[in-house]
Amino acid sequence: MSDYNVKNLEPSDFDDLMYLEEEVFGAEGESTLGPYYVRLCCDFFGQHCFLCLNDGKPVGYLLSFVRDREAYCTTLAVTPEFQGTRAVPLLLRAFVGSIADRVDSCWFTVKADNKAARALHASLGATEIGVRHGFYGPTDERIVSKIDAAAFAKLRARYVRLGLLTPSRPVEPPSPMLYASPMLA
Ligand SMILES: CC(C)(COP(=O)(O)OP(=O)(O)OC[C@H]1O[C@@H](n2cnc3c(N)ncnc32)[C@H](O)[C@@H]1OP(=O)(O)O)[C@@H](O)C(=O)NCCC(=O)NCCS
Repeated sequence: MSDYNVKNLEPSDFDDLMYLEEEVFGAEGESTLGPYYVRLCCDFFGQHCFLCLNDGKPVGYLLSFVRDREAYCTTLAVTPEFQGTRAVPLLLRAFVGSIADRVDSCWFTVKADNKAARALHASLGATEIGVRHGFYGPTDERIVSKIDAAAFAKLRARYVRLGLLTPSRPVEPPSPMLYASPMLA
């Protein structure tokens, strides 16, 4: 049986992230994240960003940012070969575990035709609350959805029931990575 490993992003994951961007979005003719953004995720925001490996091979990733008591999940992607496998639930488990005691709500944006992503957000308790026009460019439109405080409490309770989270955890201290100088490494 193949072995999955989900880990926080680290500076050394930069090449894997750039590869996955090409495999998932580039292959579909969509624009990909620039190296500057990916470098920031790997070097500074790894506390809430995750990479999924299958037998050591990168197969998926989730990027997110936390500000105050809100999370914003900007990307969740899995290579076509690994869609419909355990990769997504494992990435979500790592993500929800990392934010459960840090935030009260979580935002997503998604294109209207992305049925899989919309279904996934809904399964987490997110509600679609509007459309942003001109999001990534003049003609770009994104649905904005949110797991609000009530839905987030339910999600958290579900994870506790499933044994994926402990009932209460102390607030995590800031990541030591915030104090490192990875740009100089
Ligand atoms: C979005 C993505 C991560 C979902 O991963 P996945 O492994 O396909 O997810 P699942 O197979 O668990 O499907 C998630 C849900 O969507 C549903 N779904 C999958 N494909 C679907 C489709 N084409 N139409 C409607 N529903 C679909 C599944 O049935 C499932 O719902 P359920 O839990 O009620 O059964 C994956 O499709 C992907 O990487 N897409 C490309 C990148 C992307 O667009 N990311 C989102 C925006 S950043």
